[in-house]
Amino acid sequence: MALKNSQNHFGVIAKFLHWLIALLMIALIGLGAYMVTLDYYDDEWYDGSLLLHKALGMVGLAVVGLKFIWMLKNPKPDDLPTLKSWEKHASVLAHITLLAVMFLMPVTGYVVSTSEGAGIAMFGLFEVPALFKISAAVRDMAIAIHFYLAYGGMALVLVHASAALKHHFINKDKTLRRIL
Ligand code: HEM
Ligand code: HEM
Repeated sequence: MALKNSQNHFGVIAKFLHWLIALLMIALIGLGAYMVTLDYYDDEWYDGSLLLHKALGMVGLAVVGLKFIWMLKNPKPDDLPTLKSWEKHASVLAHITLLAVMFLMPVTGYVVSTSEGAGIAMFGLFEVPALFKISAAVRDMAIAIHFYLAYGGMALVLVHASAALKHHFINKDKTLRRIL
């Protein structure tokens, strides 16, 4: 199995980065949606879930950074010849939006969490420092963006995954197989 993408296949590194990002995105939406239902006084996991969410989210930012670098150095395989023109445009738009969401979620999360000067604890190993002074207005805007992008992103992930499954089971083409 080749490390790099070829004209017709995704390489091991692109596959690994894709599925790691997919896993993190889905886990963080689930964890985020769950943790905001917990109560500060009644739930033991209130602090732990937020700590985990923030640290995993920052890992997501690092992985997306690596993916950007890898994408620049290693173009994706050619579109399958069976794709219709609108499908090509729609998939490019969906992929760019998914990557933008996966980048903006941790950035807005970081802005929210460091707005009062505290850093982000990374599993007790080290801390990502608070770099900027952030006003309450910017913080509130970041909370709103974090919220809408999370649930908008979830909807787009569903469309994206359904499109992949439709290609696999209905069109029976290689779309899904070549990234597995
Ligand atoms: C959970 C189920 C998912 C499935 C079944 C799935 C499936 C696929 C497939 C089949 C492709 C290849 C499309 C092509 O050949 O053009 C692809 C590409 C892509 N997917 Fe997903 N995906 C999933 C989740 C995600 C998530 C959560 C994200 C990002 C937040 C994501 C981002 C991308 C991007 C950016 C591409 C473009 C190719 C690349 O740069 O790796 N996917 N996905
Ligand atoms: C891909 C990465 C991320 C995803 C998908 C994600 C997703 C979510 C979701 C779904 C919520 C619940 C929103 C709600 O229903 O109110 C949430 C809340 C939150 N997230 Fe994230 N998150 C990510 C990264 C981060 C990072 C890196 C941080 C901080 C360093 C962070 C900090 C927070 C905070 C503080 C809240 C609570 C916001 C509030 O007060 O309402 N998130 N996140």
